[in-house]
Amino acid sequence: MNDIVKHERPDPVPASALTGQTPYSAWMRTDALHSLQHPVSDHPGEHAWITSVQVSELYWMLIIKEIQIAQAQLRADDLTQACRTLQRVVAHHEPLNATWRSIAWMTPTDLLSILSRAVATYGKDTALQGWTYRHMVYLLGIKQAEHLQHFTPQPQRWDQLNKALAEPSLYDDVLACLHRNGFPVPAAVLDRDFSVPYVPSKAVEQVWRDVYADQNDNLGLQQLGETLADIAEGFSAWKHLHLMATRRTLRAARLLRHRRRRLAAPDHG
Ligand code: HEM
Repeated sequence: MNDIVKHERPDPVPASALTGQTPYSAWMRTDALHSLQHPVSDHPGEHAWITSVQVSELYWMLIIKEIQIAQAQLRADDLTQACRTLQRVVAHHEPLNATWRSIAWMTPTDLLSILSRAVATYGKDTALQGWTYRHMVYLLGIKQAEHLQHFTPQPQRWDQLNKALAEPSLYDDVLACLHRNGFPVPAAVLDRDFSVPYVPSKAVEQVWRDVYADQNDNLGLQQLGETLADIAEGFSAWKHLHLMATRRTLRAARLLRHRRRRLAAPDHG
């Protein structure tokens, strides 16, 4: 287990925390959990929006922790346990991606009436300010340093993300593991600057071809390759669902606004 994983383990619950609680509510922190939704509009769907985003936040953090565990297992060359951990990441994408169903009812007008109240209450926001998602994608190897700028108002999060940016991604640990297993991963790939995006390498592609060359050989590494592909599919599905939701709401709302403006223009024919 690496340091981060150890640090994330909470201290034992003090006896005082159990007063007035059932073991279930003490363990699941239900009082705290259900006090975290604060709608800003009177739109009846805002609670669904907040819940859907908060559930996604929880899953992104869960995926971060799982990837960190898998990285520690890969560094210890425990391929079997690393694959088991990463298969949980594959599984977590199912409920994460299903959260889109909870807000599938949303029309452009619904979205704008909620977002306009959020802007009026908290100021103009963007999902690019979400540090959990950013940490997860840095671990997945999407090293877009330009997104750090959104966290200057949150120095602790900026530090956390800057560290994650500079450290090996999951795939960097996989490549190091392949190298330790005797595959010729080039030194330039292993010793690269981890804060910049990975550049595809013909030599690494050949390594994967060699891993898969015999279906009865390198079974652990083949399983690892398949699990990484499953994670990529789960993540791409989230991106696709996000794009579709954005097209149906924000883009449609912009077109609607543009059309209204054109109709209102005095020279509109
Ligand atoms: C249907 C409603 C939604 C619309 C119209 C929308 C719109 C957008 C837009 C335009 C961006 C690009 C960045 C920006 O201009 O701010 C973005 C990014 C993002 N949104 Fe949404 N979004 C929606 C729902 C959601 C939900 C429900 C979540 C979370 C569960 C979410 C999470 C994100 C994240 C994490 C990014 C950054 C993506 C990346 O950098 O890869 N969005 N969204």
